Amino acid sequence: MKYDELFALLRRRGVLWPSAEIYGGVQGLYDYGPLGTALKRRLEEAWTAWFVGLSPDYHLIQPSEFLPEAVVRASGHLENFTDPEVTCESCHAAFRADTIVEKVRPDGVDGLTPAQIGEILRANQLKCPNCGSPALSVPTPFNLMFPVELGVTGHERAYLQPETAQGSYLAFARMWDVGRHALPLGIAVIGKAYRNEIAPRQVLFRLWAFTQAELQIFFDPAGFPVPFAQVAAEPLPVLRVDRRQQGEEAPEFVRAEELVRSGGLPEFYVYHLAQSYRFYRDVLGYPADRLRLFEKSDVERAFYNRIQFDLEAHLESLGGYKELGAVHYRGNYDLSRHSEGSGKDLSVHPTGREPLLPHVLELTFGVDRHLWALSDLHLGKDGERTVWKLPPYLAPVTVGVFPLIEKDHGAYALEVADELVREGLAARYDDASSIGKRYARMDEAGAPYCVTVDGESLAEGPAKGTVTLRARDSRSQERVPVRELAPRLRAAVRLPRPPRS
Ligand code: GAP
Repeated sequence: MKYDELFALLRRRGVLWPSAEIYGGVQGLYDYGPLGTALKRRLEEAWTAWFVGLSPDYHLIQPSEFLPEAVVRASGHLENFTDPEVTCESCHAAFRADTIVEKVRPDGVDGLTPAQIGEILRANQLKCPNCGSPALSVPTPFNLMFPVELGVTGHERAYLQPETAQGSYLAFARMWDVGRHALPLGIAVIGKAYRNEIAPRQVLFRLWAFTQAELQIFFDPAGFPVPFAQVAAEPLPVLRVDRRQQGEEAPEFVRAEELVRSGGLPEFYVYHLAQSYRFYRDVLGYPADRLRLFEKSDVERAFYNRIQFDLEAHLESLGGYKELGAVHYRGNYDLSRHSEGSGKDLSVHPTGREPLLPHVLELTFGVDRHLWALSDLHLGKDGERTVWKLPPYLAPVTVGVFPLIEKDHGAYALEVADELVREGLAARYDDASSIGKRYARMDEAGAPYCVTVDGESLAEGPAKGTVTLRARDSRSQERVPVRELAPRLRAAVRLPRPPRS
């Protein structure tokens, strides 16, 4: 679907809308309605089941969203978490440099100095997107963090976290103490991140407030054992730096073991990259031919990242591949900076080993961007119908429950719906308008099943206590005893876990 059409549909169905819409809305801030909120929660649950499920030594925690100034000074965010900002000297509008140069340099401006970006602006005679003036400033660094003043005096300066990762680094020492004193140790966080983006745009893609799900895995660089055999034969759609430099944009499928054997990547890295890819393909249901594992070059990735592949999906609504997450090998940058900043030595002494400062592998995942991708890739036309073909365990509504005729069958249908809710299922009763329209509403909401109560459900006879169960994708219908509904639906919404062998 095209961008405008998809956004209009999501807005009309109450999935999401711009915050403060009655005041004209704010780019960069969005609210989720009932369907969006339920989908987001399910996506977070699916992420947790998969990634925290990779190892019994990976745990989910919930740290504070405020970071004291000393933390962001040590992490480098105070100094370096900037984007180059260009202002128009004529109309004074401000822009991210990469949004102005993107037509002549689609790869962005990562790794370029302000002077080099200024030279690109001049050489290509680029103009202000607002007023058309060529009088654009040389870019200056703009810090993306939101400062806050805590307490009555406001003397305690802090920042809203620009990434959830920092909470895991701050928790490492405590988690080591309360844990079993062994590496690897994974600390996952799902939480809000806040960035004062210069040019928020593309709805959920560049927000001021967004949700990240991130797993930081602390490990011994001398050995990080993983069950690599589980993924060795998996073909991964990679676009490596050498092929990018030859102008290639399409990924090629390379087996995971090949990336290790001749591709120069460590097993622990490829294992987690493959499990991340499987999550996108097998759990979120993204088609393999829309996915790309995009390797970042030395100049593009942050200096502390030793290896970085972005996980991207090709989205029709946004006209190309878009980054949805990444796998970063961050070395020991984070713990060494926080050791220095806090004065507490964060090296550990695993039983029977020399003390060491753990390295970090980060699996990062943008929840809001995935909500958009789940709409782009699964919501569309199927003949005359508009259907959101979400995997059942992600669907905001699992089952719509309808009475065929409200006055005759409404009371029993309500009872069935209530019972399914008590069983922990997302059942939604609906008796408004015709059955056809109710099916259409549920198809658009992504409900994988609908149940209809009719005369046969109530009348004495062989069909008493049965209902019609209709499947969203096949539109097949069958009669099912009411008592079998909950177990069948529960089986359909079981969350996938990574296989153990
Ligand atoms: N801890 C590493 C980190 O934060 P990042 O590439 O800056 O890395 C990770 O962000 C993910 O967070 C991205 O892949 C994207 O999905 C999401 N993300 C980043 N900035 C965003 C924004 N302004 N709006 C929505 N999602 C964003």
